[in-house]
Amino acid sequence: MTEIIKVSVKNRKESVVRASEVIKSGGLVAFPTETIYGLGASALNEKAVSKIFIAKGRPQDNPLIVHVADKNIDAYVKEVPENAKKLIAKFWPGPLTLVLKKSSIIPKNVTAGLDSVAIRMPLNKIAFALIKEAGPIAAPSANLSGKPSPTSEEHVIEDMNNRVDMILAAGHCDVGLESTVLSLVDKPILLRPGRVTKEQIEKVIGPISVHSSIYGGEVDSAASPGMKYRHYAPEHQLILVNPEKLDEVVGEYEKQGKKVGVLKIGNIIHFAKIMFEEIRELDKVNDIIVVEATKETGLGMAIMNRLRKASSKIIE
Ligand code: TXA
Ligand code: MG
Repeated sequence: MTEIIKVSVKNRKESVVRASEVIKSGGLVAFPTETIYGLGASALNEKAVSKIFIAKGRPQDNPLIVHVADKNIDAYVKEVPENAKKLIAKFWPGPLTLVLKKSSIIPKNVTAGLDSVAIRMPLNKIAFALIKEAGPIAAPSANLSGKPSPTSEEHVIEDMNNRVDMILAAGHCDVGLESTVLSLVDKPILLRPGRVTKEQIEKVIGPISVHSSIYGGEVDSAASPGMKYRHYAPEHQLILVNPEKLDEVVGEYEKQGKKVGVLKIGNIIHFAKIMFEEIRELDKVNDIIVVEATKETGLGMAIMNRLRKASSKIIE
């Protein structure tokens, strides 16, 4: 049985305390962050962490992010390089995850056996308070593996009801896309683009490189284990189309008698926020989803990265 708590300003403190008790006793709690909902267990409890993989149907070789509520992360990593210090000062709390060499305190299954660990400090008040109360929390996105990331409580309930001990339901997430993931194990390399953009990071630490998987390149590197899985796959075909060809492509499918759901970008920050939700909704009532492509700069890089992964075809 899953206990679903609707969190309001009034019951927030009490809800967080109850959720922290679940975490501390080795249970699973789905909770909101500013990016998407997370599925959390105590990051220092190997047995609790193993339940995450079962609840999500997540492959064991895909490592988790450790969520903290303190900028001092000395206990979890071998060292904090200068670049990490600068980025932490600038972007934490917020949607930037840093991959660093791990200390021995982090259980093996959190990092899927890698000697690095991904760490971030969420900005969302409920997430932050929960971590403060319960200690560091290992959490992937609170969706079933392969489904679009959950940006509202309905998605979490749809995917996780009866798979976790508690769901903290708190409406819609602000950002709507998973955090930016940057590895500082070696030379800085962007593993996943997000709301904190490549350009913003480069302003703080200078030029960084980009993992080839971000542009849909072949993935054979152990540097980015999460990238080899097809993500966010809707049930129906999703086609990513150059804006100039959008009307033509939609017209062709309609001529074939198909029900076509169309998603256009408009305001990019708003689009990021609603993208996963729109895909879930369009998928329920259409035969095919056609999405307008955008530029690969700023937030566009993260949006295109997610859309490419969700798509079965790209028309340029
Ligand atoms: O916004 C977010 O990051 C959300 C919320 C809940 O915080 N979490 C999230 O987790 O998106 P997940 O598990 O869906 O994505 C974590 C990504 C995966 O691509 C994983 O491969 C990568 O981070 N990752 C984790 N640890 C890593 C490591 N040691 N080295 C390289 N990549 C790592
Ligand atoms: Mg995920």
